[in-house]
Amino acid sequence: MSAIHHRQVVLASGNPGKLRELSRILEPIGLELRSQAEFDVPEVEENGLSFVENAIIKARAAAGHCALPAIADDSGLEVDFLNGEPGIHSARYSGGGDAANNARLLKELGDLPEERRTARFQCVLVYMRHPLDPTPLVCQASWEGRILFEPRGDNGFGYDPLFFVPDQGCSSAELPSEVKNRVSHRAKASALLLEALRRR
Ligand code: IMP
Repeated sequence: MSAIHHRQVVLASGNPGKLRELSRILEPIGLELRSQAEFDVPEVEENGLSFVENAIIKARAAAGHCALPAIADDSGLEVDFLNGEPGIHSARYSGGGDAANNARLLKELGDLPEERRTARFQCVLVYMRHPLDPTPLVCQASWEGRILFEPRGDNGFGYDPLFFVPDQGCSSAELPSEVKNRVSHRAKASALLLEALRRR
């Protein structure tokens, strides 16, 4: 068995959307992603001030609890008019779920014109071999778009229905998952991670 083929790795996230997207992306090189939900990993406080810090906190906790290498994704939406918010607070922006987060975002932007509604998804992926890994692999990528005036589409999760992708001419929730998995912030960060894993 090679270093990469059929290697089990725990994904330090309980988010089924991320597990689905990352599993499809990483499966071709034989990484079998297991959700941390299977291992009852205790919730860890994401008290970092950046995506990188929070990804490392999550990966370290999962690797320690599961005794497996761990991948963590910390991601979020940066809106220029809101000085980068919701950013690292994307998942808990409204205190409610995805629909409430989207409603708050629409409210914050009000009738701001289209050309000022620029935003991007950011994704940081971290791979740690064990909780004391002194050289975690850290990969970062972004995806440019702008915030719509109302939700469009049913695919994906989170802010996808409000995220218009000019290159594709539709919202990211209107993209088939195969397309999103090729072009998204997470897809690009995953491609970087694959490259880094292969090199190592
Ligand atoms: P995390 O689980 O702390 O990394 O929070 C990520 C949050 O950012 C998610 O709950 C979503 O609200 C948002 N987000 C990240 N990636 C995406 C995406 O691909 N589509 C839509 N929303 C996303």
